[in-house]
Amino acid sequence: MPGTCVIGLQWGDEAKGKIVDLLAGRHDIVVRYQGGANAGHTVVTQGETYKLSLIPSGIFRREVQCVVAGGVVLNPATLIEEINGLSARGVPVAENLIISDRAHVIFPWHFEEDRLLNELCTSGEAIGTTMRGIGPCYRDKVGRSFAIRLGDMYRDNFQNRIEQIVRAKSQILAGLGGSAMPLDADEIFETYREYAQRLKPHVADTTAYLLDAVDADRSILFEGAQGALLDVDHGTFPFVTSSNSSGVGVASGSGVAGRFVTKVIGILKAYATRVGGGPFPTEQDNDVGQHIRDRGNEYGTVTKRPRRCGWFDAVAARYTARLSGVDVLAIMLLDVPSLLPELQICTAYEIDGQRTTDFPSHVDDLRRAVPVYEIMPGWREEITHIRRIEDLPTGAKDYLDRISELVGRPIEVVSVGPDREQTMFAPS
Ligand code: IMP
Repeated sequence: MPGTCVIGLQWGDEAKGKIVDLLAGRHDIVVRYQGGANAGHTVVTQGETYKLSLIPSGIFRREVQCVVAGGVVLNPATLIEEINGLSARGVPVAENLIISDRAHVIFPWHFEEDRLLNELCTSGEAIGTTMRGIGPCYRDKVGRSFAIRLGDMYRDNFQNRIEQIVRAKSQILAGLGGSAMPLDADEIFETYREYAQRLKPHVADTTAYLLDAVDADRSILFEGAQGALLDVDHGTFPFVTSSNSSGVGVASGSGVAGRFVTKVIGILKAYATRVGGGPFPTEQDNDVGQHIRDRGNEYGTVTKRPRRCGWFDAVAARYTARLSGVDVLAIMLLDVPSLLPELQICTAYEIDGQRTTDFPSHVDDLRRAVPVYEIMPGWREEITHIRRIEDLPTGAKDYLDRISELVGRPIEVVSVGPDREQTMFAPS
């Protein structure tokens, strides 16, 4: 079975949606398997821009089966809004979308917890979550006692479960202090019962579906959300998201064993960005950062927050490429650093006077890392119209070659704009 996986290798927002959309036509099935509505995948097709948070980016191809697998945390309101929004714009969402009955559901108390915990953390550096209830929902999944999965919403005891959990959560929220919104069990039950009815036609055992698909040798594309540096186990903890957003998350999130993934595509921006808190060694809080932010429109898809911008960090990218088992790279937004007189690539860190190319496991060490830069000449022309890699200016080609060399993987795709046509493939 040809299983392909698309993984962001930085701190998210690497333009994965565009690559998934391009590859979707070559696969039978596209799967979202972790994260939730903290993701914002932008797809531009036939001049129309779509922003997807939960629905796989394969939804624009009629022949593709889209799957939201059990590792995703679901906000039903967002999902329904997304389904309705797509349908209203003529993108059919019917049996081509199935959603796992194992996916954990986000409830109003999760939003409250996200907000109140953020307020409690203001003394230190806040994680700066997207406030979508993602962390609290994953916490309940691991804690088990207060968790509700999509499949639970169709059981006779659903109302009882809500009542029990509302009692416990009201106490917990009161304990967090602040101004917790009161939780009304009846109202929550009614609202979520309606959501459950609306989503019912899509709900399925997606693990069984995918295992059958593997047996039938159908091709599957796994669409990672966020980026590997935000992985809860291997990223810049605690400034991470709550799921395994690197390549290691495919198996647990989807139920399909890693050995069936035959190709991993690592997605990198030609520079680096980060949203929220946490160390970012190559950050450029200056004119260069602003140049990147303006030209790359680096504002959060979900939260609209301005993204922190900086130079390409090859130490981090090499680490996440290895962590995710990456075979080839896609370099996105290469048009953004155009016009800069020179570019810098971080090739090593100096931590307490010691030079290293290893990515530190502790965030405090990363915070002290001073980047060692290699300076490369820029290219002083726009490249958005170029359609073949060999036609790029010498500066851009040299820059790509150096990234590939430092990360240790070949570049297969280069993107110079949001449209499908603004994509170049390395000759195979
Ligand atoms: P959470 O996932 O909302 O809990 O946020 C945890 C951290 O991950 C914060 O720094 C967020 O800004 C970041 N984050 C979550 N989702 C994304 C994403 O899709 N792109 C970029 N950063 C993200």
